Amino acid sequence: MTLPLIASKLGNPTKLGYFMADLDDIRDGDNFGLNTPADTSSFYLKGLNNTDWGIKNRMARIFNRKSGRTVMLAFDHGFLMGPTSGLERIDLNIAPLAEHADCLMGTRGMIRSSIPADNTRPICLRTDTGTTILTEMNHNVLIAEDDAISMNASAMAAMLAIGDAATEAITVANFSRLVDIGNKYSIPVMGVTAVGKDMARDARYFGLASRVCAENGASIVKTYYTEGFEKVVAACPVPVVIAGGKKLPELEALELAYNAIQCGASGVDMGRNVFQSEAPLAMIKAVAGVVHDGLKPQEAFDLFETLRAEAK
Ligand code: 5RP
Repeated sequence: MTLPLIASKLGNPTKLGYFMADLDDIRDGDNFGLNTPADTSSFYLKGLNNTDWGIKNRMARIFNRKSGRTVMLAFDHGFLMGPTSGLERIDLNIAPLAEHADCLMGTRGMIRSSIPADNTRPICLRTDTGTTILTEMNHNVLIAEDDAISMNASAMAAMLAIGDAATEAITVANFSRLVDIGNKYSIPVMGVTAVGKDMARDARYFGLASRVCAENGASIVKTYYTEGFEKVVAACPVPVVIAGGKKLPELEALELAYNAIQCGASGVDMGRNVFQSEAPLAMIKAVAGVVHDGLKPQEAFDLFETLRAEAK
């Protein structure tokens, strides 16, 4: 079933067909309590008051205590698309950026082979794998939990292909099992909402996909910025970070990060807009300026330009 079809089913009860009878009156939420922050009285990140010490401790490695936010650097793209631009040599492209990120998100193969073991940045380990851009995406399985533990992962990430008829069930089942493992060993799990070619990129879809991650036990949700993002964030009880998506001009990427933060996002898990930038080091510092220091997009872009010029 394609995502637009799902959207049309949600919007038009007469098309529900074989759906359960009590699904024929799905109403969009309209009371998100946007002016009422979540209770963070016993832990500084939302939705985690009742988690145990180990989850909190690992989350505290990833999310800056002062800003409550994170700049995660995503470089897991190769397991789907091979040596894409900016990721030809993880040792040369990513390792030098590591100390400027709050967390590194990658696969076990790239981290073991190309990130020095004396790296002290927390690892968010990409834990599902299976298919590439050459075949059908997201027919994934999970790697063994022992390996995530042996890599000292501070979080584990897996994709959920919500709305994709072929892979929704398998990815939700994978994710659910990963949360079982994470809960057993106190490792937070990040749900990554997939983007498919048929996807309706709107707040309604990302709100649904993000909420499914949280309902299934995610401690972090990674999704995409869209208009109405404040509702996506409000309806997701745990911290939300945004992917950057395709490479944009630097100012636009900084605007994207800024807008997401303004809507309540807890940071970014950005890849291509950092490592495909003309000046990746300057760019990650500029992104951190937006995420942690409250820089406006133009201020962050000025910082980017200054750092880029200095590096020449
Ligand atoms: C998708 C991912 C990627 O890490 C994600 O797309 C982030 O990278 P980018 O900012 O380049 O979109 O989790 O599997």
